[in-house]
Amino acid sequence: MKILLVGSGGREHAMASRIKASPLCSRLYIAPGNPGMAPLGDLVPIKADDVAGLVKFAVSEKIGLVAIGPEDPLARGLANALHKEKIKAFGPSQQGAQLEADKAFSKKIMREAAIPTAEGRAFTQLRDALAYIESRTDPLVVKAAGLARGKGVIVCADPVEAIDAVRNIMEKKIFGDAGKTVIVEERLTGPEISLLAFVDGRHAYLMEAAQDHKRIGDGDTGPNTGGMGAYSPAPLLTDDIITKAQREIIVPLLDALHRHEIDYRGILYIGLMLTTAGPKTLEFNCRFGDPEAQPLLMRLKSDLVDVMLACVDRQIDRLTLEWDPRAAICVVLASEGYGWKPDDQITKGVAITGLEEAARLPDVQIFHAGTTMKDGRLLTSGGRVLGVCASGNDLAAARKTAYSAIEKIHFDGMQYRRDIGASA
Ligand code: AMP
Ligand code: GLY
Repeated sequence: MKILLVGSGGREHAMASRIKASPLCSRLYIAPGNPGMAPLGDLVPIKADDVAGLVKFAVSEKIGLVAIGPEDPLARGLANALHKEKIKAFGPSQQGAQLEADKAFSKKIMREAAIPTAEGRAFTQLRDALAYIESRTDPLVVKAAGLARGKGVIVCADPVEAIDAVRNIMEKKIFGDAGKTVIVEERLTGPEISLLAFVDGRHAYLMEAAQDHKRIGDGDTGPNTGGMGAYSPAPLLTDDIITKAQREIIVPLLDALHRHEIDYRGILYIGLMLTTAGPKTLEFNCRFGDPEAQPLLMRLKSDLVDVMLACVDRQIDRLTLEWDPRAAICVVLASEGYGWKPDDQITKGVAITGLEEAARLPDVQIFHAGTTMKDGRLLTSGGRVLGVCASGNDLAAARKTAYSAIEKIHFDGMQYRRDIGASA
């Protein structure tokens, strides 16, 4: 079967390596991909958010399955448009993607299905949001409701900070249109964990646990980012939490989606906070996490294409997912300024060296994210540049291998966290 993979980040590079390895894949196209993915498939210069261009390509190339990596094309209805052309799409419909793309919708569904989450409200008017904050004395979190590349959340220490946050989002529009609606909610405390499941519309199959490190700095300090590293398995996720999450979150959510006749076939990502009152939902994402996908896919032994087809064909019950018992870790190497500066002020176009030597180390895999090829030289082209991944008999071994690979890689301004996987 011909497969089209949509996206260009580290997550998609990891997906491409597993799709390419599948006997079910006769040819892999990647739109638009990145230089690291070039050895795995044909790179097609169509942007990931160009729904019409992608559908046209899929029709003309008789693509059998389109695997959609990022949230943007899902929120723009790529899966719906492909279904219209009778092309199989792995990833939820536009309505399903609202779980991620519209946090007000997601809150509404959670309230309706009695899913444990932070108590909060959505606002479209600044004065209403301000009045609500003034009526509260507890620490709050302010969120842009729309898609803001993992950065639309401001965790506030007190109401003064919360007032600043809503003003910045609604008046100064620091997250653009994503901040037209804001959510103000109670600030929860506890360790965080990501729970991912393959979903076939009615049923979900949980993946192994993965843990992300969202803050830019060591010891979870500094601003939130898209994710600076991840590892799997994650010892925080106990059987008790899994049972609770199944019963209190996943089952009621899938029932609610079904009641609303929302077509959800793909990945459901649940950001959980383990509070003293039990696990509560921080957010839903409608796709693999990046960088959680990298260690998860390094550990997934089952054929990814077969798994995606089982979701699309509503046959998840025929699956048994097999996982490598070894641990895997991903450390993100980011450009100077990432996390602290706006995207257009991050240093880019810097030469990267040492990749081949690093990739030759046993148990190491390097996934590209923000890289580009110019005149035969590999340059940085984004905030998160590379994901250096390693497996090992345990997390400590995987960590050691990943960090020794990083020592061989260099680009000016390179920043990364030294403590990925250390707290586990
Ligand atoms: P989200 O994109 O909604 O997952 O938020 C990004 C990060 O903000 C999460 O990983 C948490 O660290 C933090 N966060 C979000 N909502 C809350 C909350 N209600 N209480 C405390 N921290 C939160
Ligand atoms: N790593 C978090 C995310 O992909 O949203």
